[in-house]
Amino acid sequence: MGTESETKSREQGLATTALHTGRETTPERENSPPVFLTSSFRFDSAEQARAVFAGEEEGNLYSRFTNPTVAMFEERVAALEKAEHAVATASGMAAVTLVFLSLLSSGEHVVISRSVFGSTTNIANTLLKRMGIGVSRVALSDLAAWEAAITPATRMFFLETPANPTLEMVDLAALTALAHQKGILVVVDNVLCTPCLQRPLALGADLVVHSATKYMDGQGRVLGGVIAGGRKLLMDHVYPMLRNTGASLSPFNAWVLFKGLETLPLRMERHCDNAERVAAHLAARPELAGAVLYPGLPDHPQRALAARQMRRFGAIVCLDLGSRARAHRFMDGLELAIITANLGDSRTLTTHPATTTHAKLTGAERLAAGIGDGLVRFSIGLEDVEDILTDLDQALARSAS
Ligand SMILES: Cc1ncc(COP(=O)(O)O)c(C=O)c1O
Repeated sequence: MGTESETKSREQGLATTALHTGRETTPERENSPPVFLTSSFRFDSAEQARAVFAGEEEGNLYSRFTNPTVAMFEERVAALEKAEHAVATASGMAAVTLVFLSLLSSGEHVVISRSVFGSTTNIANTLLKRMGIGVSRVALSDLAAWEAAITPATRMFFLETPANPTLEMVDLAALTALAHQKGILVVVDNVLCTPCLQRPLALGADLVVHSATKYMDGQGRVLGGVIAGGRKLLMDHVYPMLRNTGASLSPFNAWVLFKGLETLPLRMERHCDNAERVAAHLAARPELAGAVLYPGLPDHPQRALAARQMRRFGAIVCLDLGSRARAHRFMDGLELAIITANLGDSRTLTTHPATTTHAKLTGAERLAAGIGDGLVRFSIGLEDVEDILTDLDQALARSAS
């Protein structure tokens, strides 16, 4: 047992934070938090309504602005990301779009990694260009390319690391140092890691965005998103845009996500354990030499970087089977893994990015992002790992013929 001062200075563990932060009770003394399913809040008097609207008195007004259940979720995410503040949104794409709309203006410029989620690329190609915001796309891991893309109008770098689905990474500390020399904000989509595996803010990023739909829910039930970072940046820019445009998180979804966070650290360990086993098992098959993508594999070109900036290697494993026909045949032969356009579920899921999540990209964009026609993405679930391996083996055998 440590001394009293050692006990006091010890930082709380992530599992404890996930279970105990953001908990509020009402006078009913409930142990599991209630869902405040209400669109608006009552006032005792017209004068109180005036004072709350004027910001002279604290309180909830309307659930597009604030809601106690949503606030609990925001507080817990902020604690896990060790951020000053967090703002919840209706989905991951609402979070991504809000970041762009609230922090970029016409005539300004953003550099976006080529390896980002398909809808993020679509927003960059359509909405941002229509608003007169300049967009440059660069190879994620190429620091010189990020530097070369900077113009006097550049306000933001936007990226995912590891990227979905290529699992390419960038050295976050080096990239944020480069950006901050020029006063550029760095926004990181941290979906594949969650704060359990990587905390971009600690490596210098200004904001982190999440599709809470993924691991934070963890059971494929609801849509949600969240943006974490500095209070001033969020409250001066992002939150006013959120409350006026209405991309707010539903209280019911916030409740589901809040409860989901309680088991996030535990689930991420098991997801990673299973993914490590799956990647090693597939990579050991001679016919799949060089076809398995996983940052934890000894021959992954960025393994050292992953080991440095991520706590573990994540739970997405990709397999390149060379052609769309073989990829589809293999997926159709799976009996346990579910074909669906999601990730981060408790069950093992599989997707063919080239014809689903990234289908709207041009062939050249897909090629540049490293998404071949034979690429199959697995979001490894929480099953008994031997059952996942058996399923993969039988589907590989069937698709080979
Ligand atoms: C990396 C990444 N960012 C953002 C999103 C968008 O999230 P949502 O579907 O919650 O809008 C996804 C969805 O798959 C994603 O994988």
